[in-house]
Amino acid sequence: MTIVDEPLSAEAIESRLTTRLLGHPTYFYAQIGSTNTEAIRLAYEGAPDGTLVIADSQSAGKGRLGRRWFAPPGSALLFTLLLRPRLSPVQAQRITMACSLGVARAVESLTGVPARIKWPNDLVVSGKKLGGVLTELSTVTDGVLDYAVVGIGLNVNLHPAELPETMTPPTSLLVECGQPVSRLALLIRLLTECEALYLPLCAGWSPHEAWREALETIGQQVQVGTAEEVIRGRAVDVTETGALVVEDEAGARHVILAGDVTLRGHRLER
Ligand code: BTN
Repeated sequence: MTIVDEPLSAEAIESRLTTRLLGHPTYFYAQIGSTNTEAIRLAYEGAPDGTLVIADSQSAGKGRLGRRWFAPPGSALLFTLLLRPRLSPVQAQRITMACSLGVARAVESLTGVPARIKWPNDLVVSGKKLGGVLTELSTVTDGVLDYAVVGIGLNVNLHPAELPETMTPPTSLLVECGQPVSRLALLIRLLTECEALYLPLCAGWSPHEAWREALETIGQQVQVGTAEEVIRGRAVDVTETGALVVEDEAGARHVILAGDVTLRGHRLER
């Protein structure tokens, strides 16, 4: 696969999309604070389901747990989808499940790189972090979310020296493929794969089972630090609402909603 990276622009993206919802409209920025923050602003202005906010660089990229997300300009995919599925807060984790699964599928189908998901929603290749998903949810009206913004950061054409320092050792598609990958082609594939999961989700389908199968964490020995204790054991399952189920050495099961997890020496976060 020899691919020349093409510049990103709203016109280039929208003219190639065959999706019904995702990417319509698209807002492209050469530089922005955070695409998630901009998507939230657009949500309050009434922007529609499927709106895409994408940037070549972010000055205040947000990661999970209040961390920052760094990427050199012009080499990563940094974007946010504004989604408005009619889901209750209990069902909200489905949105992140569907999007992280869509990203993993798109990476694998376009590049051949076997991308998996590390609980809860890191994109990994052989245990190395390729990207992450940060979902921010709105308040609820009549039991239904007003919107969700799903921010996705993917290390595409980053050279080894440019990879950010993260708890989980990082990688990029350039490193994994040994050649650059077109961000435009990857973005189009991502939006297509995510929409293929998002439309059924809007019709009531849960991506839980498919997401579970894409998790590399199941079956691994993990160490989970919660506010009260440290649980050591084997990750045996994930619940419908996205919690991790860990079986300790005595055979007791612990349902981990949030916490820091160490997997073979690397931390998982939620
Ligand atoms: C993580 O911590 O693993 C999640 C990182 C999510 C980063 C992306 S980059 C595009 C979007 N805008 C942000 O400010 N954050 C997300």
